Amino acid sequence: MTNQPIVNVFEDEEHMIGALAERIVDMAAACQKRTGRFVAALSGGNTPRPLYEKLASEPFVSRMDWESCFFFLSDERCVDHASSESNYNMIRQCLLQKAPVPEENIFATRFQEEDPVKSAADYQSIIENFFGNGGAVPAFDLILLGMGPDGHTASLFPGTAALDEKERLVVANFVEKFDAYRITFTLPLINRAEHVFFMVTGHAKSEIVASVLSDESTDYPARLVGQADSDYAGGAENRELCTITWYLDKGASSLLDLAATPT
Ligand code: 6PG
Repeated sequence: MTNQPIVNVFEDEEHMIGALAERIVDMAAACQKRTGRFVAALSGGNTPRPLYEKLASEPFVSRMDWESCFFFLSDERCVDHASSESNYNMIRQCLLQKAPVPEENIFATRFQEEDPVKSAADYQSIIENFFGNGGAVPAFDLILLGMGPDGHTASLFPGTAALDEKERLVVANFVEKFDAYRITFTLPLINRAEHVFFMVTGHAKSEIVASVLSDESTDYPARLVGQADSDYAGGAENRELCTITWYLDKGASSLLDLAATPT
């Protein structure tokens, strides 16, 4: 069983980013009303930069209750956080330094440069301690993801060991094409989220978007998000699977036969 994703297509990146910012502000308010907090894992890469900058600017920055927002990273490169390669560095520059997010509400990886395996285990402990829900897989309110042209998401790349991880929530995943480790959420953790948003733009990704959304014979990592395989769905719980929503611009959706979503 797979959760049927919701696909929203926008005329261009600007409209997509605007709709995403509205959706996230509304979602945060609803979560904070229900539980007192909004807990999100943010994606790295380039696509989310304008979203983070939008959320850190008016009118959105004044609409968010940042004191009750808590941010994690869905993956990180094994570099110093000061590096231009670091997802944390990008998110800090685009969002966390501009919006009034309390320092103690931001959870970055540690030791990722010197010891990826230790860093992954440490990050899993940080997440489990934060949620403190007695061994059940933590359920993020939102996990924001991108997708590469090869169908990878977070740092779950095709053919890498992390794709087969059924127990751990965060692992150090060796990615051959980079000859480097990445720290990444695993599918059990991603599939436990209440909501997963994919944001993908550009014609260059139109083929992979069409394959991931329409070709059931493929097993691209992004397609495994939302799979109800009990191995991947965060253990034995039979909770509702995460709701998956794709935010696409017309370029990325050009091989899908969907009309643009009015914005
Ligand atoms: C990373 C991201 C990665 C990213 C995709 C898409 O660490 O780079 O987590 O999964 O979302 O590679 O990247 P772009 O948004 O730059 O195309």
